[in-house]
Amino acid sequence: MSTPVVELEGIVVTYRTGLLGGEGFDAVRDVSLSIGEGETVGLVGESGSGKTTLGRVCLGLQRPTKGTMRFGGDPFGGLRQRRGQLSIVLQHPEWALNPRLRCGASVEEPLLVLGVGSGERKQRVAAMLDNVGLDAGFVSRYPGQLSGGQRQRVAIARALVTQPRFIVFDEAVSALDVSVQAQVLNLIADLQKEHGFGALFISHDLAATRYLSHRIAVMYKGEIVEDAPSETFYGTPDHPYSRALMSAIA
Ligand SMILES: Nc1ncnc2c1ncn2[C@@H]1O[C@H](COP(=O)(O)OP(=O)(O)OP(=O)(O)O)[C@@H](O)[C@H]1O
Ligand SMILES: [Mg+2]
Repeated sequence: MSTPVVELEGIVVTYRTGLLGGEGFDAVRDVSLSIGEGETVGLVGESGSGKTTLGRVCLGLQRPTKGTMRFGGDPFGGLRQRRGQLSIVLQHPEWALNPRLRCGASVEEPLLVLGVGSGERKQRVAAMLDNVGLDAGFVSRYPGQLSGGQRQRVAIARALVTQPRFIVFDEAVSALDVSVQAQVLNLIADLQKEHGFGALFISHDLAATRYLSHRIAVMYKGEIVEDAPSETFYGTPDHPYSRALMSAIA
């Protein structure tokens, strides 16, 4: 097997609660997970089970209390060193897009941070917008002038423009209506085939997760209680909590 892009081993995240910080709450408990190049792992589980926390750990946005992380086979290192290699797409594109910035500038910004020259920037922004199915006219539009689905496409273009090796989608399609959801899921699948990034697809929605994911990891109270190929999981889920989740959508 090729080297996984992200490897987590024995990850624990303890949040300090209580006024004096004496009390601790383990939001993530001893999680090990690896995600390959071009692979999507669907992360499902009830609200508060630790999915977002784990996603943030994968991106280096949150330091684990315990455990080790590797990226592309090397120690994770600092965020600076990983600039442009990691991205996130959130539920509300409003959070990723500056309302006062035209869409073209929003997509261009990560390239600017990487120091890409202006000619190449313009060309990559145009190619990326085309890639997410938006015509050149969108470059000069503001996020407020777009539909929710179009805004999410711009957010995806921004997340992908640096050609990251790994992306976390945290409830990325949950706020969209069902037909737009299907379009965006298709788009993500196509982009992954083309760009080959590894992905963690966090969702409450088992049907959406099934569509995209090669593997499913089920989180329950901070632990991964099942990690199985999609076909196995959707055929015969193993853990009682997975079966309960499945019966909820049957
Ligand atoms: N900064 C924080 N400080 C203290 N506790 C936190 C913090 N962030 C999250 N938590 C707690 O950690 C647990 C896991 O939260 P997390 O956001 O990872 O869950 P989730 O699975 O993403 O939930 P949801 O499906 O609702 O988004 C929750 O009990 C939450 O209240
Ligand atoms: Mg969450």
